[in-house]
Amino acid sequence: MTDQNMNDRKKKFRLIEGSKEAGENLSEQPVAVVTGAGRGIGRALLNQLLKRGYLVVAVVRSINHVRELFTIDPKNILPLRLDITEASTEEVLKEFLEGQVERVDLLINNAGHGATGFGIEGLDTKELEKLFSVHCFGPIKVVKACLPFLRKSPQAVITNISSRFGSVEWVATGTVPNDQSTYSYRIAKASLNMFTCCLADELAGEGMKVISVDPGKVKTRFGPIDADCEPEESAEAILNLIDTNKETGIFKNAKGEKLPW
Ligand SMILES: NC(=O)c1ccc[n+]([C@@H]2O[C@H](COP(=O)([O-])OP(=O)(O)OC[C@H]3O[C@@H](n4cnc5c(N)ncnc54)[C@H](OP(=O)(O)O)[C@@H]3O)[C@@H](O)[C@H]2O)c1
Repeated sequence: MTDQNMNDRKKKFRLIEGSKEAGENLSEQPVAVVTGAGRGIGRALLNQLLKRGYLVVAVVRSINHVRELFTIDPKNILPLRLDITEASTEEVLKEFLEGQVERVDLLINNAGHGATGFGIEGLDTKELEKLFSVHCFGPIKVVKACLPFLRKSPQAVITNISSRFGSVEWVATGTVPNDQSTYSYRIAKASLNMFTCCLADELAGEGMKVISVDPGKVKTRFGPIDADCEPEESAEAILNLIDTNKETGIFKNAKGEKLPW
């Protein structure tokens, strides 16, 4: 990429997405990337990360969320409008990061949604594709975009927000209420967990940690009817877990208890 192209891109992102002025020193501040930062657990993670002094690349789907986030804290939030199911996700995110940050210390793959068809009769393979796209292919693209920047951090962590419904063992043993979750959601989150394992194994030699976390039953648009936890509470617990965790290739709940794969 030529210097001219780089400058044009930085200018474009400053105008469209709202981002740091060129030349600001970003090197001291820890940097996080959070997907699905517009609402729910992702927004709470963003709030908690700001309290902890992070510069946050906030991946959101709507331009309204970009505008809103930019008014909240333009110095410490770099909003990027991106649907992680789009084919260009890796390229767009990588270009954005190249123009805005030197490294990434923490990536949280949080964006996601549920499905509607329950049981094998209700399972629509088109919907399954959508769930794979957001819970598995999306996080893979996001990791690929962030990896060169994560490698520049001395203690990088990748956290995949999974679900207890992604535990093969708990689904097999009926430990989770299987009638409360679709095949598509359970299969897609189990795939995300496998991605966690593959990546943790490959990156262990580089000292990078990769974990799957179940956020609990959280009161969000997506959350279950028996949700018992506020998004801020869940987000704080997840970040405390990330701060204190010394292992890689693990699946834990936000309280720090190990879950079976
Ligand atoms: N809530 C719970 O009890 C619970 C339990 C277990 C696991 N989880 C997991 O936690 C994560 C967050 O869920 P939540 O409860 O916070 O749900 P939520 O309030 O519905 O928020 C989901 C977020 O993901 C974003 N998103 C969805 N599809 C996207 C895409 N293709 N590209 C970019 N962003 C996308 C949404 O953006 P828009 O605002 O544009 O729609 C929204 O910001 C999900 O992965 C979910 O599976 C939640």
